[in-house]
Amino acid sequence: MKKTIRDLDLKNRRVFIRDDFNVPLKNGVIRDDTRIRASLPTIKYARDAGAKCVVLASHLGRPKGRPNPEMSLRPVADRLAELLGVPVAFAGDCVGPEAENAVRNAPPGAVVLLENLRFHPEEEKNEIGFARALASLADAYVNDAFGAAHRAHASVEAIVRLTPQAPAGLLMENELRYLGGVLEKPERPFVAVLGGAKVSDKIEVIENLIPRVDRLLIGGAMAYTFFKAMGKPTGRSLVEDDKLDAARDIMRRAQERGLQFLLPSDHVVTDKPEPGVPTEVLNVDSNAIGDRMGLDIGPVTVAAYTKALRDAKTVVWNGPMGVFEIDEFAHGTIGVAKAVAEVQGTTIVGGGDSIAAIKKAGVADRITHISTGGGASLEFLAGRTLPGVAVLPDN
Ligand code: 3PG
Repeated sequence: MKKTIRDLDLKNRRVFIRDDFNVPLKNGVIRDDTRIRASLPTIKYARDAGAKCVVLASHLGRPKGRPNPEMSLRPVADRLAELLGVPVAFAGDCVGPEAENAVRNAPPGAVVLLENLRFHPEEEKNEIGFARALASLADAYVNDAFGAAHRAHASVEAIVRLTPQAPAGLLMENELRYLGGVLEKPERPFVAVLGGAKVSDKIEVIENLIPRVDRLLIGGAMAYTFFKAMGKPTGRSLVEDDKLDAARDIMRRAQERGLQFLLPSDHVVTDKPEPGVPTEVLNVDSNAIGDRMGLDIGPVTVAAYTKALRDAKTVVWNGPMGVFEIDEFAHGTIGVAKAVAEVQGTTIVGGGDSIAAIKKAGVADRITHISTGGGASLEFLAGRTLPGVAVLPDN
């Protein structure tokens, strides 16, 4: 267990909290504030614990080390103020006089959000001097940015070496508890549902899960790499030809381990991924796919996956079952979302698309834990060490 914010005396201290406010933005409008909402418990905890000032920092997008107004965190400050119900001051830079003045002039109990950390190239270079400048803004550091924990960046890694008491925030603690729990001592049956476009994104996760899960359910375009490896017709579906051996190896290992490795048995095929196109449900062995492509799992597969989830006590789901953004190809993903929501056990959903699907299906409040980590949760499930977690002190 890592030290958490509860292990730190925050009274009259200025607290620097590293958050992950990397939210989808379009023309300054926040499209999904899940990550902002997820940061609130730690911010509220710090204020309630008597912190003199709460200094928040995050990256947003990939501005390549240069200021870019389109990737400013200012809209996040406004949203935070609405959600917290207190003013949130915004500093136009994350280090230097602007940041120092914003923190110095903040009234007791104030919340200050610093501008995008990645406007400075030193952040991604994990530079200790930059970390020192950030650390100088406060008396205590808390890491609540699980979504950025796979990045060895200055505000995540180097800064902790300067502030050895650095605890995990409440969001980070939750993420580690749930994701760590499924890898260490899952209640059984443990079912993993993996989807998404590419098997290459999930190979390490699958390899790490094979020794742990009881059932592995595969959907999304990545199923087609397995189908091609098995000699089934794939038409113009997305196949990663350079991953056919990897797919065969995964199937061999799953068989050796004796786990249930489920691939779709039927699918929804069409000419192109567009709304309103004619579709046909085919068995995956059918050559009638011709030069069309498969864009969703079919109803027989949804029923089989629902059955495979019914008695599960632990479920991890990452990646959609099809192109669920288009209604014609959303039935599989929505069906699986509903089946996951019915599970009487611990359910963990990660990855932006699966979370969007859970919301589209209207079942988000029936999921035990929705991970805020995209790449970070995948790396965690792949068994990799996350630099931002490894550096935090154990309790
Ligand atoms: C994410 O959205 O997964 C994190 O915020 C990390 O962002 P990055 O991939 O740009 O480092």
